[in-house]
Amino acid sequence: MLKAKIVATGSYLPEKILTNADMEKLVDTSDEWITERTGIKERRISADGQTTSDMAYEAAKNALKESGIKAGELDLIIVATVTPDMPFPSTACLLQNRLEAKKAAAFDINAACSGFLFALSTAESFIKSGACKRVLVAGADALSKFVDWEDRTTCVLFGDGAGAVVLEAATGDSGILSTDIYSDGSLWEMLKVPGGGSKHPPTKETVKKGLHSIKMRGNETYKIAVRTLESLVTDTLKKNKLKPSQLAALIPHQANLRIIQATANRLGLPLDKVVVNIEKYGNTSAASIPIALDEAVRTGRVRKDDYILLEAFGGGLTWASSLIKW
Ligand code: UT7
Repeated sequence: MLKAKIVATGSYLPEKILTNADMEKLVDTSDEWITERTGIKERRISADGQTTSDMAYEAAKNALKESGIKAGELDLIIVATVTPDMPFPSTACLLQNRLEAKKAAAFDINAACSGFLFALSTAESFIKSGACKRVLVAGADALSKFVDWEDRTTCVLFGDGAGAVVLEAATGDSGILSTDIYSDGSLWEMLKVPGGGSKHPPTKETVKKGLHSIKMRGNETYKIAVRTLESLVTDTLKKNKLKPSQLAALIPHQANLRIIQATANRLGLPLDKVVVNIEKYGNTSAASIPIALDEAVRTGRVRKDDYILLEAFGGGLTWASSLIKW
């Protein structure tokens, strides 16, 4: 049976660092509050004029270089993002152009912070069906450009970045063992950027009302995330007939250290098996899992034949997991 196998990873973070001390100068907050409630110490901010596709391009270049596969050999490019360069064309088409991946079809996926795993699941289906052999999946977001820098309840949380993986069709027992994706649109109001679409097309009024920035019902979202992720990870392991102790690493979406700890506790996993980089980058939305995965691979925390579990939760609401034998 065909499997989708991640053969290389890459990531990119913008240079500019905004620390919690910098945040204290912008809004009524403190390093102590941000650290205790979220685990974040600093985040990266894309430069003026630097777009989501610019960051995705850097991450994709790194992943392709690592894979030894040429951009021209790709059959498909999927970009997970909620901060596209523009409403259309898709960021994936802009990336395809930059990479000169002439043979690849390209489209975006919008599943907010779960976007990378939704895109991975889509890539897996294309590969398992035999429709594609080589697929590039990127998760890239520039949420700093959609943050209300006067709203302390959201602006301290988010950062920018991109991660990418190259997948190939493979036989054998390593590769993606499962991906599971879920949505509950009845909770769409929990986390949103209300303006800029057909509901509230951009006008002077929508700008004045602040409709183009992120609104989140943080504490409610937090409680749903903890509950949902706890059952998601146990169900995923059960489905794959694995015990938590067989996992080499849990690679969670980096939204809040307390959410990550709650999920690890539910599995009885020691924290040294959990890949955490939220202190450096904050919540980078669709980019957070592929960035963490790339760091884990590069630092030798993920090795051949290891079982790793990826999981995410985000706007939509959406949530997803993937179990991989590396
Ligand atoms: O990534 C996808 C999905 N997103 C998430 O999963 C995020 C989920 N939510 C969270 O991570 C947390 O809810 C937050 C980090 C956003 C907030 O933490 P919390 O423990 O849920 O705090 P809270 O919203 O209940 O607020 C507690 C207090 C409030 O003050 P009062 O009303 O108790 O006086 C807030 O106004 O903390 C206040 N507060 C702040 N204080 C200092 C909120 N933001 C800040 C801030 N600095 N930046």
